[in-house]
Amino acid sequence: MAVNVNNQKQSKLISDRTNKLSPSGIRKFFDLLANMEGVISLGVGEPDYATPWHISEAAVKSLERGYTMYTSNSGIPELRELTAKHLKEKYGVEYDPNGEILMTVGVSEALDLAMRAIVNPGDEVIMTDPHYVAYDSCVILAEGKPVKVPTSQENGFEVEGKDIEEKITGKTKAILIGYPSNPTGAVMPRNKLLGIGAVARRHNLIVISDEIYARLTYGVEHTCYASLPGVKENTILLGGFSKAYAMTGWRIGYAAGPKEIIAAMTKIHQYTIMSAPTPAQVAAIEALKTGEPNVLEMVEDYNRRRMFIVKGLNDIGLLCYEPKGAFYAFPSITCTGMTSEEFSEKLLMEEKVAVVPGSAFGACGEGYVRCCYATSLQDIEEALTRMGRFVKKYKK
Ligand SMILES: Cc1ncc(COP(=O)(O)O)c(C=O)c1O
Repeated sequence: MAVNVNNQKQSKLISDRTNKLSPSGIRKFFDLLANMEGVISLGVGEPDYATPWHISEAAVKSLERGYTMYTSNSGIPELRELTAKHLKEKYGVEYDPNGEILMTVGVSEALDLAMRAIVNPGDEVIMTDPHYVAYDSCVILAEGKPVKVPTSQENGFEVEGKDIEEKITGKTKAILIGYPSNPTGAVMPRNKLLGIGAVARRHNLIVISDEIYARLTYGVEHTCYASLPGVKENTILLGGFSKAYAMTGWRIGYAAGPKEIIAAMTKIHQYTIMSAPTPAQVAAIEALKTGEPNVLEMVEDYNRRRMFIVKGLNDIGLLCYEPKGAFYAFPSITCTGMTSEEFSEKLLMEEKVAVVPGSAFGACGEGYVRCCYATSLQDIEEALTRMGRFVKKYKK
């Protein structure tokens, strides 16, 4: 994105690596709607649920007991143990809670730490396009170079090992994957993940697997990349509590991986963060102990909304493939002849529905918009009525 005149004035004060970052295509958009009334938002990517009360209450009680100090840099031992148990029970992958798991301030911090721990200036990190907005920025902040592998609706936004292999150069350090995907909702089947594993092993690359939406799949199983045979020793698995337990504001996630890499990440974490928020760690313990019924209930509800919105989008003429995970629909808007930014801006101004332009997630997101369906069915229904009117008016 072009640096504007004001930014140019500041650029001497600001580091080159920060100046290289584009403003988030999502934030920019939300600044627009901040002062508008009556907007239905399919924009923000977070659950509309509050955190289940028994989870919040555990943290409240711990505060009442005065449990307000730093924790160990790696996180409360019980939380690391429960996280290891969760990964073993759900995906059959084993991590030592003492040295192979680090509790972080959300997957956001874990991503940043992973990049800073492994990327040298000029190293290349391969990722899909479209991808989650923070992926390329984290690589740039680590002074690496994001390298994009295009994906499309025709191939279900899945990526093949061979497509990744074509992008490998002498400078490639890592492959960053994120499934179920934000923004597309795609879930990677096991055979394709095996293909990526084979490529990573052949070229001795680290795979960073962002599995924050692992629990949110519909009718398909999530395969944990690290659970595939022979890949764990070169994998950094990222997971968190934000999405599955409706805990975005608590800021709690984790990284699991080989001891050497987790130790390097912990070194950065101890100087920059110290320890993840103590009340959030207590809440996460409660989530792992007793939150499963809540997760299942929310997944069932997201699934109802998913089916409703996908059918609704297709009915109004916005071709939408069936997302199998996360809580996003990613319909094509090419029938209107508009760019995704034009579409999103006009839709907001004329019909007061907020969606996110696909271009915010990379060049291959152009021609699509992201609609988050973690909102009430009633709002989704009204949003579809308004979008239907809009598409009818502009359809070519
Ligand atoms: C794919 C993906 N990874 C990571 C994050 C960050 O999550 P957290 O709240 O754990 O920092 C998000 C949040 O939207 C996401 O969609």
